[in-house]
Amino acid sequence: MVIQQILFFFFVTCIQSSSIINIVFTVKNLEGNERLQTSFFTLISSLFQYTSIENLQLHVIGDSDSQQFVDRTLQDLHYTNEIKKLHIDDLTVEYEKLISPLIKLFSSGHTYYKDPLFFLSPFLHRILPENISHVIMLDIDLRFDHDVKQLYELFNQFNQTHILGIARENQPVYRHLLWSYRREHLDTNIGDPPPNGITGFNSGVLLLNLNRIRQSTLFNSYLENPSLIEQLIHKYHFNHPHLGDQDFYTLLSFEHNELFFILPCYWNRQLCTWWKGKGYDDIWENYFNSELNDLFSRFKDDSANDYINVNRLTEVLQAFGRNPSLRDSEQRMNELEAAGKFELTLDDVLQIIDEPWTAVNNDRDGLRQALEKFDTTHEGYIEIEKFRTMMTTIGEPLSDDELDDLIQLGLNDEQTKINIDYLVDQLLGTNA
Ligand SMILES: *[C@@H]1O[C@H](CO)[C@@H](O)[C@H](O)[C@H]1NC(C)=O
Ligand SMILES: *[C@@H]1O[C@H](CO)[C@@H](O)[C@H](O)[C@H]1NC(C)=O
Repeated sequence: MVIQQILFFFFVTCIQSSSIINIVFTVKNLEGNERLQTSFFTLISSLFQYTSIENLQLHVIGDSDSQQFVDRTLQDLHYTNEIKKLHIDDLTVEYEKLISPLIKLFSSGHTYYKDPLFFLSPFLHRILPENISHVIMLDIDLRFDHDVKQLYELFNQFNQTHILGIARENQPVYRHLLWSYRREHLDTNIGDPPPNGITGFNSGVLLLNLNRIRQSTLFNSYLENPSLIEQLIHKYHFNHPHLGDQDFYTLLSFEHNELFFILPCYWNRQLCTWWKGKGYDDIWENYFNSELNDLFSRFKDDSANDYINVNRLTEVLQAFGRNPSLRDSEQRMNELEAAGKFELTLDDVLQIIDEPWTAVNNDRDGLRQALEKFDTTHEGYIEIEKFRTMMTTIGEPLSDDELDDLIQLGLNDEQTKINIDYLVDQLLGTNA
């Protein structure tokens, strides 16, 4: 629900491969933060689990303590290549002149997103050595489900004007930010849902063609002249940006959409439903359905069909974020077949997803698991202060009022801690 989780689905077929893949990630405050450590471990172990490329070159940007944690983790995972390390403080000093205007323009007073770490990706073409031509940059709250090589091969699908690959933001964050511009420009497609809208981006996964970026006078002109960015902010009334580099890319796409290769949505699948029920339900359905449509298509035996074979039900449910037991889904397939239903359309699948045997249980379990991550003593409670800090530092930051409401919901007789069971019941009803 409120907790942002990002999953990966890698299905694209291979075209051509490269023997070294450069991967960059940024880390901060990993030392002593169990949640971040778990995220990092999940990212790296899933990356290693699926990769067919031995030669992954990892670049880690971060503080010294986090770098040490990264070292230990990579050793445990038997990573033997050299780890290229860049210290965040050094970079902040070296690139201060370039980065600080971006921070100023794109953090709207949100302290979390003020960190230079969130603004480094536009400068990687300067930070990394000239002989690195392509990199993948990843947030650490990701999990690979397929081979990273297949992600890398999307570089081959860039056309002449694309300089970086990025996924759409699949919630109406930017529609929300742009309300004022949209009110004045009723025919604009900026802020509209996919497939035709200029939706805005989620920068959790970036494919950077560094050579192209180095050569792009257009792109570099924005970095060197913050006043150009300011003009765009003004033009689009983009007044409360606060999501770091992805705000910059999003704003730039309003004028120069041709620079951005849109990653198929299943490569950066965002499972946050925070916007649902916040006055955008019709639109939210649109955003969400377009994502589902793409994903659904991966399971068709023939792309001309608008249905899938019923025997793929389990895989589809899993891809859609459900986690039914094999027994349950086989039973459901048998029922469908017995009723003469051998083909499922997307609508059928959406209905099946909503059946109580998958939806309720999984939402409940997922929510509980997410909340239990904050329960360090494993007693079924979360300290209010810890909850507050977590909620303001991960995913979409909540406002104080929203947070207070949420905390209030979880307070049972125990007035100093949030009771997890009670909060789950309050949010989802008691009827599992
Ligand atoms: C790239 O350049 C760096 C120095 O900037 C050097 O250490 C490294 O060996 C070079 N890598 C390749 C593949 O040429
Ligand atoms: C590349 O694709 C973008 C859309 O992603 C399009 O706007 C642009 O014109 C294309 N460039 C070329 C050279 O075909």
